[in-house]
Amino acid sequence: MTGRVTGTMAGPLPGTVLVAGASGAVGGRLVSRLLDSGVPVRALVRSAARGRALAAVGAETVVGDLADTASLAAALHGVERAFLLLQDEAGAPFARAAAKARGLREVVVLSATAAAHPEYDNPMFQKHVRGERHVRGSGVPWVFLRPGAFASLALLWAPALHGDGVVRVPHAGLAVPLIDPRDIADVAAAVLTAPVERWAGKAVPLSGPEVLTLPGRTAVLAAELGRPLRVEPVPEEEWVQLTARHIPEPYARALAGVERFFTEHPPAVSPGVTDVTGRPARSFATWVRDHAASFAPGPPTVVGG
Ligand SMILES: NC(=O)c1ccc[n+]([C@@H]2O[C@H](COP(=O)([O-])OP(=O)(O)OC[C@H]3O[C@@H](n4cnc5c(N)ncnc54)[C@H](OP(=O)(O)O)[C@@H]3O)[C@@H](O)[C@H]2O)c1
Repeated sequence: MTGRVTGTMAGPLPGTVLVAGASGAVGGRLVSRLLDSGVPVRALVRSAARGRALAAVGAETVVGDLADTASLAAALHGVERAFLLLQDEAGAPFARAAAKARGLREVVVLSATAAAHPEYDNPMFQKHVRGERHVRGSGVPWVFLRPGAFASLALLWAPALHGDGVVRVPHAGLAVPLIDPRDIADVAAAVLTAPVERWAGKAVPLSGPEVLTLPGRTAVLAAELGRPLRVEPVPEEEWVQLTARHIPEPYARALAGVERFFTEHPPAVSPGVTDVTGRPARSFATWVRDHAASFAPGPPTVVGG
C-alpha cells in the first residue's frame, strides 16, 4: 500500500533520514553507509518487493512514488533529513510535500553539473535546473550535489566490447572526469551525518580524479577487461539511431546533446569528493575493475541521466 511504512522499527527515531532511489546505485549505497553510521533510515521504494532487501539490512521501508505528493507526505512524516534524486517530475511533488513536512530540517538533492547551465535546452539539463528550483521553493534548507557524468555510462559500450571492438561516438573530442557513483553516495552520507549548518545552502560540484578523453576511457576499459577497443566518430544522428537499439531514443538523443555541450564546454576536475569526505575520489579504472561482471554479454544497463 502506498505510503505504508514497514520494517523492524516501531516508528521513526529522532534523526531518521528518508532515502529516495534506495533501490538504485547511489541511494542503495547511501542506505548502507547511513545504517553503518547508526543513522535510522527510511527507504522510499516503488514496491514492497523492492523494499525487502533494504528491510533485511535494517532500513524501514515506505512504498511511494516521486510523482505522488500524498505518498511523499506520508513518507516524510517524522523524518529529519532527506535524500532526493530527480526523475521526470523533477522533484516538484517532493518539494510540495517537503514544504509541509514538520521537522524536516534538510534535503540533499542528487542534482548534476548541468544545473549550473539553465540556458541549455536539453531535457537532462532542464530536469536538474527545475529540480533545484522546486527544492529551493520548498523553503527547506537544501544541499545540491552536482556530479558530472557517471563512470557507469561506460556500460553503454558493453555491446562494442562483445562485438567488433569499435566504440562509435557522436563527439570524439569529449573529455570528462567520470565520477564513481559510490563516491556520490559517500558524499551524501557525509553531508547527512554532518551538522545541517555545515553544508546547507551549498551546491557542491563533484567529479572523478582525472579528465579522461574517449581514447583514454577505452584504453582503461581494454586494459581492465582484457579486450581491445578503439573509438570511431560517427555523425550524431547516426549515433542516436544506433544507440536507440539499446536504450529509449529520447534518452539517446538527450545524451548526445549532453556530450555535445561538454565537448564545447570541457569540464574540469572538482575537489568536491575530497572536500566532503576527506579522501580522494575513486578512479575510473577502480570503477571498471569493481564492475567487470556488469560487462557480461546482454543488453546494456545505463544509469539514468
Ligand atoms: N548518469 C549520469 O551520468 C548522471 C550525471 C549526473 C546526474 N545524474 C543523476 O543521477 C540520477 C541517477 O542516480 P542512480 O544512478 O542512483 O539511479 P539508478 O541506479 O538508475 O536508480 C534510480 C532509482 O530511482 C528510483 N525511482 C525511479 N523513478 C522513481 C519514482 N517515480 N518514484 C520513486 N522512485 C523512483 C528507482 O526505483 P526502482 O527500483 O523502482 O526503479 C531506483 O531506486 C539521475 O536521475 C540523474 O538525475 C546522473
